[in-house]
Amino acid sequence: MPEFDREKKIIFSGIQPTGVFTLGNYLGAVRNWGTLQDEYNCIYSIVDLHAITVRQEPSKLRQNSLQAYALLLACGIDPKKSIAFFQSHNKCHAELNWVLACSTQFGELSRMTQFKDKSKKHADDVNAGLFTYPVLMAADILAYNADLVPIGADQKQHLELARNVAGRFNNKYGEFFKLPEPYIPPVGASVKSLADPTKKMSKSDENQNATVYILDDKDTIIRKFKRAVTDSETEICYREGKDGINNLMSIYSCVTGKTYDEIESEFASKGYGDFKLAVGEAVADYLKPVRDDFSRLIADKAYLKECYTSGAESAMRITNRILSKVYHKVGFVDAR
Ligand code: TRP
Repeated sequence: MPEFDREKKIIFSGIQPTGVFTLGNYLGAVRNWGTLQDEYNCIYSIVDLHAITVRQEPSKLRQNSLQAYALLLACGIDPKKSIAFFQSHNKCHAELNWVLACSTQFGELSRMTQFKDKSKKHADDVNAGLFTYPVLMAADILAYNADLVPIGADQKQHLELARNVAGRFNNKYGEFFKLPEPYIPPVGASVKSLADPTKKMSKSDENQNATVYILDDKDTIIRKFKRAVTDSETEICYREGKDGINNLMSIYSCVTGKTYDEIESEFASKGYGDFKLAVGEAVADYLKPVRDDFSRLIADKAYLKECYTSGAESAMRITNRILSKVYHKVGFVDAR
C-alpha cells in the first residue's frame, strides 16, 4: 500500500490501453517514471473507460489492458510506491464525471479538436462518450485533486478544459478543486521516425519500419535500424541537415551514455551500415530488462491481480472522501 507523503505533490497520469510504448515514448518520458515516484505521489490509471469511446473487441480490450498494466510495472512503476490501477475499478471516476458534466458546456466540448478529428475518423460511431471524453478526463484528475498531469501536446486542450470545469465548479459551490497544471518533464530525447527523420516517432505510423516498440525482439529492432533512412553521404557526425544520422546518434547517445564526440570517433572509419547495426544492438540490449520483466509479469496473473486490486483500493480511499465532499457541496443528502 503506497504511503502518500502530504508534503509532495500529486501527479495523475492516464494511459490508454492501446498498444506498446515506442522507443520514443520510452526515451522521451517513460524511463524517468521510476525516479518520478520518489519526488511525487504518483497515480497511474489504465483508462479503460476512455478506451470504449471507440469500438473495441472486448476480449482484445481485456488483454490490452492487462498488458498495459504489466508494461507499466516493467517500466519501473513500483506498486508499493505509486498507485497503479484500472480506471473501471474505481467507480468514483464515473460518478464524478456526471457531476462535472453538469458544469461543462456543450459549446466548449464542441470546440475540442480531438473530438472533431475522432468524429471524422469514426464517422459511423460518433457516440456521446466520444463527445464527453474530456469531462471524464477532468474527473480522473479532479477526483484526486491532482496538482500535476504529464501530457503531450495533443492533450493540452483537454487539460485546459479540466481547469475551466474545476474553476466553474469552484465558482458555483465554493473553492474546492485545485486547478491542475501540466507536468513538463525534464527535457528527454525527442526520437524521430526511422522512416522519415523529420517526423516524431509515433505509435500510429503506418510504416512498419518507422517505429521501434519497446517489446520488439532483438532481431526486429536490428532490422528496423538497418532500414533507417539516412542520407547519401558517408560521414557519421552530428550536423544540421543530417536528420537521419542525428536521430541515430541521439538514440545511441541516450542508450550508451556516450557523447556525440565519442560516437564520432568510434565510427570515424566506419560506414552507415556498421553504425546502424551498432545502434540496433545497443537499443536491443538497453531494452532487454524491460522485455524480460514484461514477460515475467504478464505470465504471473495472480501477482498482477494483487497489484491492481490493492491499487484500486488505495485509489478509492482518496476519491471516496473527495466525492463525498463534492456530493455534499452540490446539495445531495449525506449518505452517512
Ligand atoms: N486522454 C489521455 C490520452 O489519450 C488519456 C487520459 C485519460 C489522461 N484520462 C487522463 C491523461 C487524465 C492524463 C490525465 O492520452
